[in-house]
Amino acid sequence: MTNNDSRVLRAELLSFDADPGEADTPAAGSVRHIADGALWIENGRIRAVDDFSRLAPELPAGIEVVDHREKLIMPGFIDSHVHYVQLEIMASYGRQLLDWLNDYTFPEECRFAAREHAELLSAAFLGEMLRVGTTTAQVFCSSHPVSVDAFFSACHRRDLRMLAGKVLMDRHAPDALCDDTLGGIRDTERLIGDWHGKGRLGYSLTPRFAPTSSRAQLDATGGLVRNDPSLWLQTHLAENTGELDWVAELFPGSRDYLAVYEQSGLVGPRSTFAHGIHLDQEMRGRLAERGANLAFCPSSNLFLGSGLFDRLAAREAGLNISYASDVGGGTDLSGLATLKAAYQVGQLRGQPLTAWQGFYGLTLGNAQALSLHGQVGRLAPGMEADVVVLDPAATPLLARRTARSRSLSETLFALMMLGDDRCVAETWAGGRRVHSRA
Ligand code: GUN
Ligand code: ZN
Repeated sequence: MTNNDSRVLRAELLSFDADPGEADTPAAGSVRHIADGALWIENGRIRAVDDFSRLAPELPAGIEVVDHREKLIMPGFIDSHVHYVQLEIMASYGRQLLDWLNDYTFPEECRFAAREHAELLSAAFLGEMLRVGTTTAQVFCSSHPVSVDAFFSACHRRDLRMLAGKVLMDRHAPDALCDDTLGGIRDTERLIGDWHGKGRLGYSLTPRFAPTSSRAQLDATGGLVRNDPSLWLQTHLAENTGELDWVAELFPGSRDYLAVYEQSGLVGPRSTFAHGIHLDQEMRGRLAERGANLAFCPSSNLFLGSGLFDRLAAREAGLNISYASDVGGGTDLSGLATLKAAYQVGQLRGQPLTAWQGFYGLTLGNAQALSLHGQVGRLAPGMEADVVVLDPAATPLLARRTARSRSLSETLFALMMLGDDRCVAETWAGGRRVHSRA
């Protein structure tokens, strides 16, 4: 009997049960690797994971087996910080953060007042995400509520696990993007009511960054966090030195940039701070104490010339790190490209990123940073069936390179340095195939 909602994917399987650490050899018990594995998915969740030969006798007769031998299945990738509304201004030349915002980003975000445009770009963005194997992301919309409705609708229709929110800004941006302070909060409350917890969606409060919110708007956002600790929060922190100077000028009563957010109650275990490049160890310690996470956005940091993130200093402080594309500041939506840039930034800091640490980061690490590890990030029974099927021989060059690999870690490293969307043979979300390269 064939059950349409039950099937087995047969492939090499890789998943993390814990942080593999920084050494070349992963910490004991952190990696689960099955050379010829079976991933049994049923009704949108993973029912069992095992050696194919061990699981085969337990499978119902006639169950569909999707044969992906020669391919590598991992949990779907997670992007902890990305702006869907900036898809079409990727690769805009020659500016650093504040000029880039004024010259390219704000004019572009004005277009999202139109529902039709927001719907078009939501679909295009999700198509691109699934093409690169990313099944979950924490997403900035624009300040228009309709940009959030369009995005969440598109995610809900595809049954994706996604976090997103309406940008809050009530100053230092074009009028067309600025909220009336309390009106922006009321819009946010309406969006939370409509979308938070619907299907696999979660609402992330989204004050853009300190310079574009008044203290009143930050405080009101803090009030929403206090009322409902199940909400997420996303913003930017200490990305660019010009930004730092501006924040010091705008908030003379705050001892540093992080204190601006602390004073409004915005720093907690569900808070993601994008970048956090220009912090000292004491500030990293304060973030760690609250269980917040820093989203490391290496391709964006290189593209906007923002600086070199000190990953090991963050780890030393006990701070959760997540990995993110930060498109449109970032130059690639692919998690593989994010790892490549993270490795390059690491090399310039004398802290190269192992493939183990990188792929742990894209999967379980990001899931933990976003408090989503009960749902996604691992190949394990009960988890949601969001997976990426990678082809380590997708291009002639990769085939040549990975044929010479003497270990899994060498193959993973080749994927993170040479891979792109061509390596993503299929993407599955909620137990359904949502992208196929073929
Ligand atoms: N800081 C405030 N807004 C933004 C944005 O849209 N992108 C990046 N990279 N940094 C920001
Ligand atoms: Zn950003």
